[in-house]
Amino acid sequence: MPHARFTHLLNQQRSYLPPEHGKSSAWICGEEDYTAICRQALEDPQDFWNARASLLLHWFKRWDRVLEADEVNHKYRWFTGGKLNAAFNCIDRHLISGRRNKAALIWQGEDDMAKRCYTYQMLYTEVCRMAHALSSLHIRKGDQVALYMPMIPELVIAMLACARIGAVHTAIFSGYAEGGVRSRIQDARARVVITADGAIRAGKVKPLKANLDPILEKCPSVAHVVVVRHAGIENVNMKGRRDIWWHDLVDDFTLNADFPCEAMDANDPLFLLHTSGSTGKPTGIMHSTGGYLTYAAHSTQWCFDMRDDDVYWCTADMGWITGHTYGVYGPLALGATTIMFEGVPTYPKPDRYWRIVENFRVNILYTAPTVIRSLMREGEAWTERYEHNSLRILATVGEPINPEAWHWFHKHIGDSELPIVDTWWQTETGGAIISPMPYATRLKPGSACKPLPGIDAAVLPSPAQDGEDGDGAGHLVIRKPWPGMMLGVFNDEAKYQSYFSRFGCYESGDGARVDEDGYFWILGRIDDSINVSGHRLSTVEVEAVLTSCPDIAEAAVVPMPHLLKGEGIYAYVLTRDEVPWSDALRKSLRDAVRRDIGPLASPEYIQFVEAMPKTSSGKIIRRMLRKIAANALEELGDTTALANPQALPAIIRGHQNLLQGLPESAPAEEGGEVFAGGSE
Ligand code: WT7
Repeated sequence: MPHARFTHLLNQQRSYLPPEHGKSSAWICGEEDYTAICRQALEDPQDFWNARASLLLHWFKRWDRVLEADEVNHKYRWFTGGKLNAAFNCIDRHLISGRRNKAALIWQGEDDMAKRCYTYQMLYTEVCRMAHALSSLHIRKGDQVALYMPMIPELVIAMLACARIGAVHTAIFSGYAEGGVRSRIQDARARVVITADGAIRAGKVKPLKANLDPILEKCPSVAHVVVVRHAGIENVNMKGRRDIWWHDLVDDFTLNADFPCEAMDANDPLFLLHTSGSTGKPTGIMHSTGGYLTYAAHSTQWCFDMRDDDVYWCTADMGWITGHTYGVYGPLALGATTIMFEGVPTYPKPDRYWRIVENFRVNILYTAPTVIRSLMREGEAWTERYEHNSLRILATVGEPINPEAWHWFHKHIGDSELPIVDTWWQTETGGAIISPMPYATRLKPGSACKPLPGIDAAVLPSPAQDGEDGDGAGHLVIRKPWPGMMLGVFNDEAKYQSYFSRFGCYESGDGARVDEDGYFWILGRIDDSINVSGHRLSTVEVEAVLTSCPDIAEAAVVPMPHLLKGEGIYAYVLTRDEVPWSDALRKSLRDAVRRDIGPLASPEYIQFVEAMPKTSSGKIIRRMLRKIAANALEELGDTTALANPQALPAIIRGHQNLLQGLPESAPAEEGGEVFAGGSE
């Protein structure tokens, strides 16, 4: 059940009223407004979503039914019979609405001098050319296209070109390494992969294309690889007929070559995005065109109070769901200006974010608590050098924001008055589910506040009371369908059904508590996922890499509290007979994880053990290992059920030695690395 470590958040006393200035012109202009809309939306959800979908999007053909629900199989199809195209909604319609020459996408490269700006017209031109190009590679409606790309405009262009054709894009975060990339391309059965020669990160170049080559040998579905020249890598190995440079490919298509938008069914998939599940295999979450886009536009408008002249910056990598919904689809559907930043918050200096805010006069800044913590550590002097009075709304996502970081952000960036919108949601939910409305909600630091209008979220006790819930904590579920809800899990119906098996409605996998004011406090994952810097990782996946090393017999991976990352990874490993414990082995294990999954999954600590604590049926009791890693020995609980209770004292001793850096116990050198902003 929910981890106890966030319970201190529940006792926060202070709350903050929404700003008065700007309230009257806000989309949701006060608490009464919010309450009235919520009541109305829950009384007649179909009427509510019907109105939102009509208002926010352009449909080639109106839907026959707002919702077709198959309650037995938990299939919810929104706006059935409706036809639309996401690229048309994000670009074409703005060309005739007075936004033709408005900045759609502003790109800031890692090099401060590297900036690019696309107006809606320019974006249209490039997206059409790329759509032609993909089409020339025989990509058709329904085909999968994998995007393994750095944070460059071509990534957005590729997404929208796929949407235009009706191809399903599947972004793979560029920080993933071999195993992570391979399993995603294979699961998606991608026909084309779009990548770049390299990604630039904190002054270093990571060779994406070269990393991809060996992976592709095991991905028979891939017919072509399109490569963007970006990082200046020389001698990129381009394989015969398979590999094509992006610039050569689009060169064949003239600038005025319109590519007509495919009229997509509301329930045709728009994209596929993998998330780490509770099993080792990544879960391919599928999102629809109509419902998803409605929800993206809807939640962007209300959570960020998005107005037409806003410059909006979502710092997440476009390779994650946050980048999809709030970096691309939501803001562009609303005709806003969205900023894309290639670099990291602290390179070359910890002033990058504030420079960008001042430079582009950012109005809305959406980032992650882990970024705030890492910048907080660098001190206020960096923030004080820059003007940030353009800012109107601050927002966070990915993990609970600890009150210390909240207050720092509020004081130093928000001048003690800007609202902080803490949005709780998941890859599966498509968009924000629980979040303040900036001009309506009284804020309690550390709480994501209340569900969005139309969302029926609740906290339910475990069906079989495990006696650990206590204090009103339970499972966070969503009882009614909403348009942003995933369409399904790609090629894994059983996995999709598992979200509904326990409660008969959508189960998030998070623990939460609702306080006396109806505010939700998220307590963290209940399943075997770890939230590192706001990124969901599967413990099973990390364990699989460790046990694939010939020296390792068993591995158990658990979360540990981490000052910057929120949670870090703690691995217990049992070596095979005769294999001596050594720092060299530790390093090689850590390298294996970095190589296979990516640096994000690198364990903070690797502890060698003589035996794992086990039940009589031989199952490792991870709950106890979790308590030890968290240094919460008093919460170890009943250890009598252990088949081998004698294993525990040695594990506890080993843990303490490791923390104190006693021989053979060097902590991770990578321990301080922050994967901020969703960028790695
Ligand atoms: C998990 C979803 C949604 C975008 C980023 C991650 C945690 C997310 C919050 C928040 C507390 C949060 C949850 C959730 N989470 N936002 N505001 N407060 N926890 O997407 O990879 O699908 O991970 O992130 O545990 O289940 P994701």
